Amino acid sequence: MIDVHSHVLAAIDDGPDDVSGSVAMARAMAADGVRVVCATPHVRDDWPTTPALMERRLEQVRAAVAEAGVEIEIRGGGEIALDRLPELTFDDRARFGLGGNPRLLLLEFPYYGWPLELGSVCSALLRERVVPVLAHPERNAEVQAMPHRLEHVVHEGVFVQLTAASVDGRLGRRAAECAHELLDLRLAHLIASDAHAPEVREAGMGAAARAIGDDDFAHWLCEAVPAALLAGEDPPPRPRVRHRRRRGLLRRLGR
Ligand SMILES: [Fe+2]
Repeated sequence: MIDVHSHVLAAIDDGPDDVSGSVAMARAMAADGVRVVCATPHVRDDWPTTPALMERRLEQVRAAVAEAGVEIEIRGGGEIALDRLPELTFDDRARFGLGGNPRLLLLEFPYYGWPLELGSVCSALLRERVVPVLAHPERNAEVQAMPHRLEHVVHEGVFVQLTAASVDGRLGRRAAECAHELLDLRLAHLIASDAHAPEVREAGMGAAARAIGDDDFAHWLCEAVPAALLAGEDPPPRPRVRHRRRRGLLRRLGR
């Protein structure tokens, strides 16, 4: 699997405090079946990460993970707040490019309220041939109430990333229902961990892939789409999804 959203870098945001924590996360991810992970530290007012700091921490963590013998490829990136984006230079933005692709950006969808600047920010990026990936909109109450609100930006060319723990219910019923509704509406395209700590039970992608209930669809969400986006290519067509086995999940969550 390819995980395009994680806080695996040490001492940069609300991820691990030191490099040993980063190595523990990398080890847990590799054991969960992740072969490539993008380090996406927050870039926002409370964690104003610079590209230089991200790159420095990335080198430190890569070296420590290699030294520990953990087989996982760690790439750069950033989780950029919508209101922070205008403050970044062209060069900053390119250096925060997701997985090292300067034309791919992970944008943090806020947890509260509808982001009024969403449409204009995404349109401006797409005009510059930069592809936005929206991080975890299923965790936002406005999206939970009206998932269709994402249609406009998705039809323009924006991709939507769901958090693994939303998909399999670890983040509760509302996030799970919204995640699956976005999948059914074809308004979500990939799954990532958004991991902040080594505990796979809290963030791992494997459980979410199993909760999709269709192996081909899970592969598309966790491997094929992220691989294509990182390579700057169009994702392959979505596999035909007949009847996903998710009744058990939603019943367990009390739907
Ligand atoms: Fe995140």
